[in-house]
Amino acid sequence: MSPQDAAKRAAAEAALQYIEPGEVLGVGTGSTVNHFIDLIAERRLQADIPGAVSSSNASTERLHKIGVKVLDLNQTGTLSLYVDGADEANRHLQLIKGGGAALTREKIVAAASRKFVCIVDESKLVGVLGKFPLPVEVIPMARSYVGRELTRLGGRPVFREGVTTDNGNVILDVHGLDIVDPVRLENEINGLAGVVCVGLFARRPADVLIVGSPSGTHVLKAA
Ligand code: 5RP
Repeated sequence: MSPQDAAKRAAAEAALQYIEPGEVLGVGTGSTVNHFIDLIAERRLQADIPGAVSSSNASTERLHKIGVKVLDLNQTGTLSLYVDGADEANRHLQLIKGGGAALTREKIVAAASRKFVCIVDESKLVGVLGKFPLPVEVIPMARSYVGRELTRLGGRPVFREGVTTDNGNVILDVHGLDIVDPVRLENEINGLAGVVCVGLFARRPADVLIVGSPSGTHVLKAA
């Protein structure tokens, strides 16, 4: 296992303690979350989890494989816990997400959860968000229009070739942003016609950020 993978696994392992037996769990997407799902199986915790709401088809498949029932968010109501990774995180627990193209469902599940525990390796922690290109999910016919508007906002949007989201849309990855006011930029991009979702999680940041390294973890909590 690479040092980065060991760090992801350490963060995922530390998130297990947040699982509340008997409560439906929100589960995100990505390689760090894959460790979390695998650890649930390794520790035989499936019996504690009556079901999960999944943020992607990929995670749904992995949950099914370990015997966790996947439920519809419309049937579960508010979730007590959502566990997901991120592409970047700052010290205010604001995030860039969507590297795995699952940002819209991730944002919905995060919004519908009382506690959002984000699990990352230490390379994801940054002072200012924006080095990681900001993913924006867009209705296909609005791609060029939204691209021009994102350029007007100071970014360099790049069409993510060959990717269709689970919702049938496309992704623009916006390079070159220095995101000093994440809430404002999230609101601005959300307001563009044709934008389904922007991968900035600033209005609803994480509540707990578990940062893994090969030698262990440290935890940041919302102020
Ligand atoms: C998927 C995401 C992921 O959480 C993010 O890309 C982090 O992935 P990984 O855990 O593989 O580094 O937002 O849309």
